[in-house]
Amino acid sequence: MEDPLHWIKEELDLIRDKKLFRVLTELQSGQSPEIIIEGKCYILLASNNYLGLTTDPKVKEAARRALEKYGTGSGGSRLVSGSTDLHRELEERIADFKKTEAAILFSSGYLANMGTISALVGPGDIIYSDELNHASIIDGCRLSHAEVKIYKHSDIEHLSSLLSLDKSRNKKLIATDTVFSMDGDLAPVPELVELAEKYGCMLMIDEAHATGVLGKRGSGATEYFGVEDRVPIVMGTLSKAVGSLGGYVAGSRKLIDFLRNRARTYIFDTSLPASSLAASLVAIDIIEFEPERRKHLWYLIEKFKSGLKNIGLNVLPSYSAVIPVLVGDAQPALDFARTLRDNGVFTPAVRPPSVPPGKCRIRAALMATHKEEHIEIALRAFKVAHDSLLNL
Ligand SMILES: Cc1ncc(COP(=O)(O)O)c(C=O)c1O
Repeated sequence: MEDPLHWIKEELDLIRDKKLFRVLTELQSGQSPEIIIEGKCYILLASNNYLGLTTDPKVKEAARRALEKYGTGSGGSRLVSGSTDLHRELEERIADFKKTEAAILFSSGYLANMGTISALVGPGDIIYSDELNHASIIDGCRLSHAEVKIYKHSDIEHLSSLLSLDKSRNKKLIATDTVFSMDGDLAPVPELVELAEKYGCMLMIDEAHATGVLGKRGSGATEYFGVEDRVPIVMGTLSKAVGSLGGYVAGSRKLIDFLRNRARTYIFDTSLPASSLAASLVAIDIIEFEPERRKHLWYLIEKFKSGLKNIGLNVLPSYSAVIPVLVGDAQPALDFARTLRDNGVFTPAVRPPSVPPGKCRIRAALMATHKEEHIEIALRAFKVAHDSLLNL
């Protein structure tokens, strides 16, 4: 009998032919500026741990204490037995941090986007989605079975023309990353707010890469743009600058009550373990009350970006800790990453489907725990990689 999985080999061969086959790199250490791979030390320039909080002593101690008190797992979904005082406390803390009435936790940012979008809109409704939105927004759109209209990246005129053509009285939702995950640039949030208000459209933003990095208190793009009271659906994740695990949506009490009753990725999913919740609680305090970490991060961002530009690299115009260097096709991007690694820097090449074909890149990500000397070593490695690309 023929193996019913025989087609997989052909698919894999195709992926390999296109230089898109992905392999895992095993780290033998935590998300520190210096990591160990196969026993060798490298500078880590690819982590979303933007403020270095995954390894912060206060954060780790909080997680340890919660682990002792509550154990390793939560044992159930929130609506059955998996809701603790820590879940409530963290939801209240997130609402306070994002200046909203309430917040709801999910097990990840991915599940927050999937569950929220599919709860808010359905068949007959319309979603306006930025062409560079994260996969979890795209999958939430797909799951909702609403009509999806994709607007050109951050193009307010294009979005405006799409909105003006729609006469339907059904629900409408604009969904966008605030800091785009692979480009690091910032969505025009105030203009999106204006459009949403003008057309009576729901607006949902994803603060995954903005939280901890943007705003005086580090709460994200709504704070940075001064529109905290004008974005009705604010999603984020606890897995990046917050340094632990989980996703959330912050908004009005009625929105949160609705999601608790309708978001399937909330209802039918085991809740977060106590250690992650306790870590997030302390991490959010650090983000808000220790702005010097963010200040140092921004100092490094500016230094690194100007160094890359001096080398002559094609640095995309980001405004975050995500600094993309455009290379082009998959093989040169892989070669570039290999040269970086040979020169002591770990940051893998990003290829489709994470980015469009022909736009492969090195997505460098900085952390507040990097020291200036890490940046200097990294810049030297980028120079070698750039020179060897030119000499091909
Ligand atoms: C913009 C954006 N949204 C959502 C997510 C998903 O978050 P999480 O990793 O917590 O599932 C990510 C993470 O990769 C992201 O970059």
